[in-house]
Amino acid sequence: MARNTETYVCQSCGNVTAKWAGRCEACGEWNTIELEASEAGPPGSLGAAPGKSKAKKIEFTSLAGASEDVPRVLTGNAEFDRACGGGLVPGSALLIGGDPGVGKSTLLLQVAAGLARGGASVAYISGEEATDQIRLRAKRLKAEDAPVNLASATALRDILATLKSEKPDAVIIDSIQTLWSDALPAAPGTVTQVRSCAQELVRYAKSTGAILLLVGHVTKDGQIAGPRVVEHMVDAVLYFESEQGRDFRILRAVKNRFGAAHEIGVFEMTGAGLAEVANPSALFLTGSEDAASGAAVFAGIEGTRPVLVEIQALVSPSSLAAPRRAVVGWDGARLSMLLAVLDARAGLDFGRHDVFLNVAGGLRIAEPAADLAAAAALCSSLFDAPLPQASVVFGEVALSGAVRPVNQAGARLKEAVKLGFSGALAPTGASDKSIEITEAGALADLVQWVRKAH
Ligand code: TYD
Ligand code: MG
Repeated sequence: MARNTETYVCQSCGNVTAKWAGRCEACGEWNTIELEASEAGPPGSLGAAPGKSKAKKIEFTSLAGASEDVPRVLTGNAEFDRACGGGLVPGSALLIGGDPGVGKSTLLLQVAAGLARGGASVAYISGEEATDQIRLRAKRLKAEDAPVNLASATALRDILATLKSEKPDAVIIDSIQTLWSDALPAAPGTVTQVRSCAQELVRYAKSTGAILLLVGHVTKDGQIAGPRVVEHMVDAVLYFESEQGRDFRILRAVKNRFGAAHEIGVFEMTGAGLAEVANPSALFLTGSEDAASGAAVFAGIEGTRPVLVEIQALVSPSSLAAPRRAVVGWDGARLSMLLAVLDARAGLDFGRHDVFLNVAGGLRIAEPAADLAAAAALCSSLFDAPLPQASVVFGEVALSGAVRPVNQAGARLKEAVKLGFSGALAPTGASDKSIEITEAGALADLVQWVRKAH
């Protein structure tokens, strides 16, 4: 018998407690615990109901053996396919998260149209917008001719019943927070509802081989509401990000069971929907011909793709006892470390300067390979010496001041050549015949390279 009990659930992490508290003891968030009624108490232990259901013996197999490559369904949107790891896998569930207004519905409508044009049957179910609104958007995207099955619904029971009879190849739910299961007394959007609706839909996708695309809203502190509970249920989690006031959008895979995480797809929001940006390097380079001090071009890798991006630094004398350090697009702790290493190992004096570092175009860099490029921008600004023209920089800086080799040096150099760069400052060992490489084994080589250019 199901017991009706009331429990307190943290809306951020899903932790369940018996009592209300101001602060969740699991995730430490304040004011996130709310009363939710749960439909049943914990199930009895397996031994408690003898003979009720007979346990089956599970069969073990070996790691080796025939298994096919995962088939992929292409959406016709190359940037989206790339971010998903090379297309969508039947029977898999994806979560696409992002701020309101970033363009999730636009992207998924374009993806739906692409899939439908490719011959797949697609169901686009919106719980947020009326079908008329979506039709208007489709017109704007010039997608109204695509045979997409459109519906506006929020009741999970109706949605599942419809899907089971229609059997579409792909299902798009916009958004998971608007769905509502009448089997639960909790309100729509609560962790309990989000979790159980997602669970039911994922189970449906796995059992029928349908592709499931879920939209998830991000709360103001940057998390999908009830995020962790959904994130571990789905096969891939993609975040759709934008920089304030910018038109381009980055779709970033943070988890992918069928492909590389950290893969990105780049788009630009235009008057007619999201346009693919096939060559993102052009976006992250400011393209100014006159050399300014404090700017270095970093040859980075985002996912599996090389991307060139400009790193800008401004170093100015400070009268403050604790000079200011501000960083956009890079890790603040990493900047502090780099400044300390530059002071200690290269004899520079950043300690009495304010330091600002910015990654152009709003990209966020997490690679250690950016160390040397950031250091080059910092030195260039400190010496007020523009860096050698048409050069890229990459390499990891160790605490000893040594420059360490990084992965995929060849791909980085190739991208630089492709975009017309003629020089590179790179860790020892990197080679490419079409570009003039200055090898940096230690920070002293960097300082010499910056000074020489002056
Ligand atoms: P939307 O897809 O509704 O965002 P989300 O579903 O993530 O909340 O996108 C909304 C924004 O995109 C809105 O501010 C208008 C803009 N937009 C364009 O600039 N061009 C277009 O062609 C479309 C459809 C939307
Ligand atoms: Mg939307």
